[in-house]
Amino acid sequence: MRCLFVNQEVSEVPLRGVERISLSHYRCYESFSLSLDTRPVVMTGPNGAGKTNLLEALSFLIPGRGFRRARFSDIRQQGSVEPWAISVSLKDEGEGIRIGTGLDPDNPESESRITRINGEKVKSQSALAEWVSIVWLTPQMDRLFLEGSQGRRRFLDRLVYGFDAAHAQRLNRYEKALRERSLLLRQGCADPYWLEGVEEALVNEGIAITEARLKVVGQLTAVLTTYEGPFPQADLFLRGDLEKQLDEKSMTDVEKAFRRHLATSREQDRLSGRLSYGPHRSDLHVIFTEKGHEAGLCSTGEQKALLLSIVMASAQLLAVRTDAIPLLLMDEVVAHLDEIRRSALFDAILKLKIQAWLTGTDPSLFKEMQGDAQFLSLEGARLVSIT
Ligand SMILES: Nc1ncnc2c1ncn2[C@@H]1O[C@H](COP(=O)(O)OP(=O)(O)OP(=O)(O)O)[C@@H](O)[C@H]1O
Ligand SMILES: [Mg+2]
Repeated sequence: MRCLFVNQEVSEVPLRGVERISLSHYRCYESFSLSLDTRPVVMTGPNGAGKTNLLEALSFLIPGRGFRRARFSDIRQQGSVEPWAISVSLKDEGEGIRIGTGLDPDNPESESRITRINGEKVKSQSALAEWVSIVWLTPQMDRLFLEGSQGRRRFLDRLVYGFDAAHAQRLNRYEKALRERSLLLRQGCADPYWLEGVEEALVNEGIAITEARLKVVGQLTAVLTTYEGPFPQADLFLRGDLEKQLDEKSMTDVEKAFRRHLATSREQDRLSGRLSYGPHRSDLHVIFTEKGHEAGLCSTGEQKALLLSIVMASAQLLAVRTDAIPLLLMDEVVAHLDEIRRSALFDAILKLKIQAWLTGTDPSLFKEMQGDAQFLSLEGARLVSIT
């Protein structure tokens, strides 16, 4: 039997992870600081203790709006006028990394955040993907297979950031070009070269986005179809306009077809206000191998198990990367697992040597991790104990 989401290369990877986190005016935390080592972290406490808020703060170590996709004005501690801020020190093979992110004190009403890496302000938060890779599983993701394709694209793109730091920038450029084309068509752009330039960006970025996604889907599928253990096997497919073309045609023909589509659909897209072709319409399909069903048709429990399989397969692939520090955030995952899967999850986390952050209200569910993980107890946004 194959190991549980683990491959041999992991033993050569150094211990890495968060060593210190400080929060200021961040949700329930007015001022909070915590020092740790690189072992996994088990965070327990009653409802409302601040467990999810702390995990959410860590989710800002990669590009995006955090795992709740909250408005930044909701993150600011209620009743406070101060901007929220997160500061994290991470251990890596070298001298370590310091990341600071939060609202700009000079522009506290803004919905964009500023980020500093080792004290240097970076131009775009896309730079974070070069330093940290995160995979998370939260209760909000329970409906991932039932809701629209956007959530699944976002899920996949976040996984891709972990393997390909340029992906976040690629997506930004693609989305900017989409908005620009739409505006030019609406305004009746008189300069054909301008429009062609924007469409050329859509072709180049669109194909690069699709290729990066396909590569990660292929890597995950290779892990998930050969895995043997208590989590389900799965097959992943990415379906969309470009995926189909890339499968059948040469790169030059795919580019030509995309260019032709853009040139001939201008009038239709001006009327509809959107482009009906490209990677912003792709969808990630997940098949539960044992039954041959699409994930959306599986039972609630099967869907949760499938998600856990994908997340752990991603963690396995990220764990062997040496350039970005991998973290695994799991909010309220353990309480829903039976004993066999719980043990298998703990075993995989320890073998992967990844700093996983696990939350729950009941510390007894984590007793198998005693000695191998750090146990934090929180109450009322305060640290009660750390062992
Ligand atoms: N902007 C904010 N300002 C102040 N408090 C906030 C803000 N946003 C959320 N909170 C509060 O933070 C508290 C902790 O929330 P959190 O989601 O972290 O709890 P939790 O420990 O995960 O609880 P549960 O076990 O129920 O999931 C809640 O009481 C919530 O109302
Ligand atoms: Mg919570």
